[in-house]
Amino acid sequence: MAVPSDIFAPSRLFRSTAFRLTLLYMGVFAIFATAALGYVAWNARRLIEDQIRQTIDAEITGLSEQFRQGGIRRLVLAIEQRARGPGASLYLVTSPFGERLAGNVEQVPVGLLDRAGESEIPYARSAEEGQGTRPAFAIVRVYVLPAGFRVLVGRDASERDRLRAVVRRAGGWALGVVLLLGVIGGFVIARRVLKRVDAMSATTLSIMASDLKDRLPVSGNGDELDRLAINLNTMLDRIALLLGGLRQVSDNIAHDLKTPLTRLRNRADEALRPSASEADMRRALEGVTEDADNLIRVFNALLMIARLEAGQARETMAPFDATATTASVAELYEAVAEEAGVHLACQIEPGITAIGSRELIGQALSNMLDNALKYGRPPAEGPFEVTLSLRQTGQGVAFTVADRGPGIPPEQRARALERFGRLDASRSQPGFGLGLSLVNAIAHIHGGTLELTDHAPGLAVVLTIRAQPSGIGHAG
Ligand SMILES: Nc1ncnc2c1ncn2[C@@H]1O[C@H](COP(=O)(O)OP(=O)(O)OP(=O)(O)O)[C@@H](O)[C@H]1O
Ligand SMILES: [Mg+2]
Repeated sequence: MAVPSDIFAPSRLFRSTAFRLTLLYMGVFAIFATAALGYVAWNARRLIEDQIRQTIDAEITGLSEQFRQGGIRRLVLAIEQRARGPGASLYLVTSPFGERLAGNVEQVPVGLLDRAGESEIPYARSAEEGQGTRPAFAIVRVYVLPAGFRVLVGRDASERDRLRAVVRRAGGWALGVVLLLGVIGGFVIARRVLKRVDAMSATTLSIMASDLKDRLPVSGNGDELDRLAINLNTMLDRIALLLGGLRQVSDNIAHDLKTPLTRLRNRADEALRPSASEADMRRALEGVTEDADNLIRVFNALLMIARLEAGQARETMAPFDATATTASVAELYEAVAEEAGVHLACQIEPGITAIGSRELIGQALSNMLDNALKYGRPPAEGPFEVTLSLRQTGQGVAFTVADRGPGIPPEQRARALERFGRLDASRSQPGFGLGLSLVNAIAHIHGGTLELTDHAPGLAVVLTIRAQPSGIGHAG
């Protein structure tokens, strides 16, 4: 019994598209070939018949001329003479009453001589005996002479019939061969295609079983199945990437939110202690509110990153005054910095217009300043200084926040950009590790870049986005 996946099972081959297409093609080809052959044969036949008719016409003209000159006697003589020649035509002359006077035709169908005109008749020739009587056909014409004598002149049409037989035989063979080739070709092609399609569908099963790790085979000849396999593989890569990201994010969320939630729960527990005074309860509840606020902030940041990565903010891109935006963020942070004993130095180039979202860039700058204030304290004694600068770099606008703190070693910079990516050195500071991933997402949606570089010593964070090309006015 044939298992369903047996690619050699005839029922599957017959049902395959490749096989049906090949057969269809062969069928159409056979129809056109037959039509072409038929047309050629028909033309050849007409040509032969025309020639026969012309010969008959010429004979009749000659014979009536004889009759006109010498009457029936001369006509009979002429016919007897002509009938003896090699390859002679067929002749018969009868009296007005139907008596045979001369000619080489033994028998004619009854009533043929009654009407003038052309017809096709079977005949037996009286001259050529001894070869057996094969039925032959002739094209004949009956002509009535003025005195009522009838003359029949005809020519053998076997040449035409032979041609017809040859064409018919050749056509039959050709058709048979074409159909046979069609079936064989269909089998071969369908088997090849089916083999590859089966390999592909077997692989899809193993891809599903292997957690999207396997890939479809690509034969390398660049045909449509290859293109399909390549596209499906690209799609699988992308799906695997997205799934990986999703898995990582959900892992991170589960892992990183457990601590604050546990703390929140412990605070609530504390408030419920029987010995807790009203002041204790109040303090505990305040802590709960603060923790809940932090969690809300985390979720907001996660949502915003997700939205930015999905590209939903792209339509808000417009020219904006980067100088004014940077200056207002600086103004906002000056007070915070002063309170923390940090000197905030600003180097803001005037009149710079960038393309993007003013709100998102403001958010990115405050995340960058936040980090500098949190992690930028110099390890040794010395002034705590943070620099905020804005400058145009050719086609781009670079926003830089630099500090003189411990910096981030190059191999850990990628980790700092990840969601919930926090370095061990900074565990003592509050935070969830979302600030820089948000800045990174903002850079991406602007088609820009975010670089963490060495400020020797310290860290310089550079956010670069597109500048408004000069000569075009900006919208504030
Ligand atoms: N200026 C800096 N100097 C040294 N390390 C830094 C600096 N900025 C960031 N980092 C490191 O990169 C990590 C990721 O920064 P990010 O801003 O993403 O998170 P966070 O500041 O820890 O938390 P959040 O910004 O969500 O409150 C930080 O935890 C810190 O270890
Ligand atoms: Mg931060």
